[in-house]
Parts: sequence; C-alpha cells; structure tokens
Amino acid sequence: MNTHLELSDIGMNFKTPRGTFCALDGIDLKVAKGEFISLIGHSGCGKSTVLNLVAGLLKATRGGVIVNGRQVTEPGPERAMVFQNHSLLPWLTVFENVALAVTKVFGKTKTRAEQRAWIEHNLELVHMTHARDKRPNEISGGMKQRVGIARALAMQPEILLLDEPFGALDALTRAQLQDSLMEIQARLGNTILMVTHDVDEAVLLSDRVVMLNVGPGARIGSILQVDLPRPRNRLALAENPAYIHARAEILRFLYDGHSAHNTAAPASPVAKVSRLQLLRRKVANG
Ligand SMILES: Nc1ncnc2c1ncn2[C@@H]1O[C@H](COP(=O)(O)OP(=O)(O)O)[C@@H](O)[C@H]1O
Ligand SMILES: [Mg+2]
Repeated sequence: MNTHLELSDIGMNFKTPRGTFCALDGIDLKVAKGEFISLIGHSGCGKSTVLNLVAGLLKATRGGVIVNGRQVTEPGPERAMVFQNHSLLPWLTVFENVALAVTKVFGKTKTRAEQRAWIEHNLELVHMTHARDKRPNEISGGMKQRVGIARALAMQPEILLLDEPFGALDALTRAQLQDSLMEIQARLGNTILMVTHDVDEAVLLSDRVVMLNVGPGARIGSILQVDLPRPRNRLALAENPAYIHARAEILRFLYDGHSAHNTAAPASPVAKVSRLQLLRRKVANG
C-alpha cells in the first residue's frame, strides 16, 4: 500500500482537574492515498481527538501522525477540517466565507481574478453557486454544510477531515450531501477521514470502517473492509447482501460488547455469577 497518512502508536492523555485522563492508547492505522475511512464508535471514545491529532490541533502524548512521510506538528492547508457545526462567519456571504480560506492559502500565488474563479469553482462543486451572495442565516443547514465543504476544498487539501459533518441534518438532506461527497471524492481523489455514528453512512461512503473501542484508553477494536463497487447507489445497495452483511458487522461491534473498554477485565463466568447472586440477594431482601 502507498501510505498517505499514518497514525503510529498514538497515545493521548489530557490533563484534567481530577488528574490525567488517558483518551487514546495505541492507535495504529495506515491510510492509502484516495482512501475513504470512516471512524465509528460510541460517544466519547476519542473519535474527534483522532481527527484533531491529524489536523495538528492537538499533539499526541505518545507516537504521532505522519503525512507523506513527514510528522505532523501543526495545522496545514493540506489537511482541511469540516465540523458538524458549519462554523461559518455570520456577517460574511457564502462567497466571502470561502474567500477567507482562499486568500489565506492562495493570497500570494493566485491573482485576484484567479482567486475569484477558484472560489466559484468550489461553490460549483458543492452546488451552491446560486446562493453565493446569501449570508449563513439565509440558507438551510444542509446548504451551510455544503459551504463548509466548499471552504475546506478551496484549500485544495490532500486530506479531508470530517467530524460528523451531516449529524445535524434531516435524513433526506443528509442523503443528498453524502451523494455529493462521493461525487467530489471520485472527481478529486482526496484521502478522507470521516467521523460518524451513522452505520449506513459509514458503509455507503467508506472503503474501510475503523471501529474504536470504548475509552478510556481507546484503541481500534476492528476494521471492516467495504468491497462494494463504485459509484455506489443507496437504493440498489439496500438489498445488496454484501452491504447488509457489512452493516450487521458494525452493529454487532457497537451493540454486542466488542466495543467494550479494552483494558477492563474480561467478564468471567465467576464475575457474572457473583453479580447475579448480588441481584438475587437484593431481591430476596426486598
Ligand atoms: N481537552 C480535553 N480535556 C480533557 N478531556 C478531554 C479533552 N478532549 C476530549 N477529552 C475526553 O476524551 C475523550 C474522547 O473525547 P472525544 O474525542 O471528543 O470523543 P468522541 O468524539 O468520540 O465523542 C472523552 O472522554 C472526552 O471527555
Ligand atoms: Mg466527537
């Protein structure tokens, strides 16, 4: 595999008023160029922490993130982040919000006219040209997310980092945006790392679904390869046995105890019996 992005033995501790909290403990992952990876796991297991480490917004306590053979030490335009909450500036238009990123990244290398054309091109990619002069409060949630994606793409990133990008949207809007994201990736070939807790979304979009155990000290519990041909069509897939199988595998991981805290002692039959006995005693004692 031609490794584009590598997470190498990442450990992440946070200092808290109650002492050190170990969020991640030994995350290893190699991602190929153009691969679409979903990170899935229970709330609080450390998914956003992984993205923030790749973005360079956090520094790992142990191990590190390697992009194109170089260790990540700070944020950079080759790794663009899209948040669940679009985070657009409310006093700027759609066009101006994207322009902000473009000026920052290409202010010195593109002329004013080139920058304008590049902003327009990226708004077109997400089908938002018609709303270029509107402000965030004049457009829907789905449209705001589209602008957030356009802003990220406008940095011409090699790696797109998406933190539950469609989590706050209704099902139909989410479906449209998922389709747009698949189209964009087919066109641009970005490497994508997306956090989601939507099992269908993970299977539909991903080449591999990385499942995280419950923290503290979360690790990768399992990785599922999704070998469905592209382009993918959600309606056709709904009855595809490989799709249904992949979906079931993830659900099993999430709800069957495989995602349990990795350093917890395995529930031995003895422990189970004693818990049961305690319960019986409680019932017997009223
Ligand atoms: N800055 C921080 N300080 C202390 N604890 C943190 C900090 N950031 C995250 N955590 C803790 O690390 C764990 C993982 O957080 P996060 O990555 O946000 O989870 P997820 O995105 O999977 O819901 C949680 O228990 C969270 O409370
Ligand atoms: Mg999160």
